[in-house]
Amino acid sequence: MTIEFQEDSAPMTETERRAFPDGFLFGAATAAFQIEGAAFEDGRRASIWDAFCRVPGAVINGDNGDVACDHYHLYRDDVALMKRMGLQTYRFSTSWSRVRPDGGPINPAGLDFYKRLVDELLDADILPWLTLYHWDLPQALQDRGGWTVRETADLFTEYALDMHDALGDRVKVWTTLNEPWCSSFLSYTAGIHAPGHYSVTEGVLAAHHLLLGHGQVIRELRARDASLDLGVTLNLTVADPVDPSDPADLDAARRIDGQFNRWFLDPIFRGEYPADVVDDIRAVHPEAIAALDEATRPGDLETISTPIATLGVNYYHGEYVSGHPATDEVTGGDAPTDRRAESPFPAAAEVHWHDRGLPRTPMHWEVQPEGLTRLLARVHEEYSASAGVALYVTENGAAYDDVVVERDGEKLVPDTERTEFVRSHLAATLDAIDRGVDVRGYFYWSLLDNFEWAWGYEKRFGIVRVDYDTQERTVKESGRLYSRIIAQRALEA
Ligand code: NOJ
Repeated sequence: MTIEFQEDSAPMTETERRAFPDGFLFGAATAAFQIEGAAFEDGRRASIWDAFCRVPGAVINGDNGDVACDHYHLYRDDVALMKRMGLQTYRFSTSWSRVRPDGGPINPAGLDFYKRLVDELLDADILPWLTLYHWDLPQALQDRGGWTVRETADLFTEYALDMHDALGDRVKVWTTLNEPWCSSFLSYTAGIHAPGHYSVTEGVLAAHHLLLGHGQVIRELRARDASLDLGVTLNLTVADPVDPSDPADLDAARRIDGQFNRWFLDPIFRGEYPADVVDDIRAVHPEAIAALDEATRPGDLETISTPIATLGVNYYHGEYVSGHPATDEVTGGDAPTDRRAESPFPAAAEVHWHDRGLPRTPMHWEVQPEGLTRLLARVHEEYSASAGVALYVTENGAAYDDVVVERDGEKLVPDTERTEFVRSHLAATLDAIDRGVDVRGYFYWSLLDNFEWAWGYEKRFGIVRVDYDTQERTVKESGRLYSRIIAQRALEA
């Protein structure tokens, strides 16, 4: 169910324009668990998120993914809406539990959904950008150890090859993992994402097996078809020290950069874990590094560093950190409850987040577009350019407390702050391009309001509002602006 949406812009004049380069792709992103619903239809079985949603206190209001945006049934309307909005590409994920329920043999009915979705996208002239893992591991595999065991990386590879068998003729862009920091440390160490464990050793092992699965899939898919655009998406950040002349603050920034960024970038681009972070973790959790050493087989890091073509950068906010406590300490927005028994940064327990006075979203995340420019430039200079890897902003967005108003019988969502967020982050992306960074596209997170993990449906990131009672979609003011930018291929000055 969608309401009509029409392009409402006047053309810009040359002097007002800040144009995007030819070929720059504009898209929006979603993930299977967050939008599909139909959780137990057509043979789909439980994922770790279905199970986690049923743990009292794990997800706000006890929300779950059973219905979500009902995209499983409404995908045709959603694709039609994307087309009307002018999106050139759509980044979505496939649900392992739908395609290989319990991690076992293929479920043709589940697989068929993705064939239909891809056909619909291609018919609408929208480039399908497929992510294989956006956090919804089959629960049956978690029962066998989940990402802490090597078998999961091998089964992930089998699942990826199944997906390629089914869709490889039509899908040319494949992302292995979305934000492995979240599916390892936030999930197995901090306990605030599924499966909700509190173990540094498990976090380190999960990260290793996720990376291994990534490398194996890249290697296998590359061997099958050298023309595929293969990559991974990482959640990266910029960590600024509160006082750059204070060694404790500099060390705090190093630690956050180490665990957030380099723990994943270094194995993928350099075939090694960052030695300083290994030492940091060993100092507080020697058992975790011993377990990593034991789990790492010869050749693993070579596999993990199998060359990729594309790196997806997810950027939401920066970090303003210090080695000293602050009176205005800012806590993260990853969980609404106090489930965080362990820090997702095991080697950075002494890091403190300060407030530098930037505006914040209701997730408590600061709005810092300039951080995106610096992040892209840094990744380009230190990692991707020399490897010939293109960068895409695969996620960027903000949750705000939207209000629906009616004007002349039409529903409107005047989300001014999100509109400015989109504009300023696209400008920041252009600033990076102006500095010579090879950024080839931008995906807003998210196309639709959806299930925001531990925050349930309470936080709305969409440029399209979803009324969860009726499943009505309403394009927000930010969505209208985004369409205008895409149509003009330029920002207004
Ligand atoms: C990153 C994740 O990939 C996505 O699933 C999530 O909803 C957004 N961040 C917003 O938190």
